[in-house]
Amino acid sequence: MIRFDAVTKTYPGQARPALNDLGVEILRSEFVFLVGASGSGKSTFLRLILKEDKPTRGSIHVLGQDLGSISSRKVPYFRRDLGVVFQDFRLLPNKSVFENVAFTLRVIGKSRGFIQSAVPETLKLVGLDGKGKRMPHELSGGEQQRVAIARAIVNKPQILLADEPTGNLDPVTSAGIMTLLERINAGGTTVVMATHEAGIVDQMQRRVIELVAGDIVRDERSSGYGASLPESGDEAKVPTDEPITSAAPKVPIEVMREAQPLYVEPEVHDDVTDAAAAITAAATASVPITPAADDDAAPSSGKRPARPGSKPDATAHEHLTLAERLGLRAPGGPREGDDDQEVGPTK
Ligand SMILES: Nc1ncnc2c1ncn2[C@@H]1O[C@H](COP(=O)(O)OP(=O)(O)OP(=O)(O)O)[C@@H](O)[C@H]1O
Ligand SMILES: [Mg+2]
Repeated sequence: MIRFDAVTKTYPGQARPALNDLGVEILRSEFVFLVGASGSGKSTFLRLILKEDKPTRGSIHVLGQDLGSISSRKVPYFRRDLGVVFQDFRLLPNKSVFENVAFTLRVIGKSRGFIQSAVPETLKLVGLDGKGKRMPHELSGGEQQRVAIARAIVNKPQILLADEPTGNLDPVTSAGIMTLLERINAGGTTVVMATHEAGIVDQMQRRVIELVAGDIVRDERSSGYGASLPESGDEAKVPTDEPITSAAPKVPIEVMREAQPLYVEPEVHDDVTDAAAAITAAATASVPITPAADDDAAPSSGKRPARPGSKPDATAHEHLTLAERLGLRAPGGPREGDDDQEVGPTK
């Protein structure tokens, strides 16, 4: 389903490769965690699968196609079989939940009838039944991520790629998101998820591929985050100049099993969770994300502050429209204000 053969990726101007001679295969319906320290190459790995970037050496096959031989004009068609979810959600702030999910389908020209049935069905699947009319800023972080997941799966992709999808969420909300991803995987979708969060990986006991400075140092079935570290003779180069960030608090297996697919309002906010949200927002170069604690500061006011984090990442991606970033259109189409335009029949 996904195969890397001797793949090396070296970014221009960099001495060290971000990925170093990787050979790995991911099979249909697998759930794979990609773990490793910041800078170890997780996002690069996902970007190569999406053909957002190309390897410096080696070849990649996805869904039976050699990515090296797909022309850029055909890339949007290839990406229709892939769903993507990001840490910072990347919703369209001026569109309702329904329209955010319908967006994908409109861009690829699905009929109004199809959209009218597929969107509510998908919202129900992700636990957002009846919330189609809400605007992103009226949702909690966990709910926003559910919208992003709904958008990623509404076209029934064969592969779902998730780059730290729980990175901005508290542990209980994260558990709900993991239950959802598990359910999507149980339906046959291959899921590849990059994460730093040891608690989640330990609970799920799925295949774990660990990267250290661009090398695969571990590839184990049914494993945990830090299980069976390489022998001391097996030179895994752990960067010593970077602090090891603490993982999210461990989520008990009972919570994972019983987590409702619906968003669970977090009961606990601590400095670690809030600081982690701020750090990850800065690290993704997105506009600052209002810490979840702010949302809950006035839970009974009935009015949540707008989440600046729900705005598209305009600075990092200003050369690409949202449709292009989602792989729905070939780069080079219309530009100015695309994200705010209607992109298909809406009446
Ligand atoms: N566009 C780029 N240009 C140059 N170097 C890059 C680029 N993107 C990533 N890198 C470098 O490649 C290496 C791998 O980066 P990557 O983003 O894949 O890591 P990551 O594991 O996703 O990290 P994080 O956990 O912080 O998201 C890092 O050394 C990074 O600095
Ligand atoms: Mg990354």
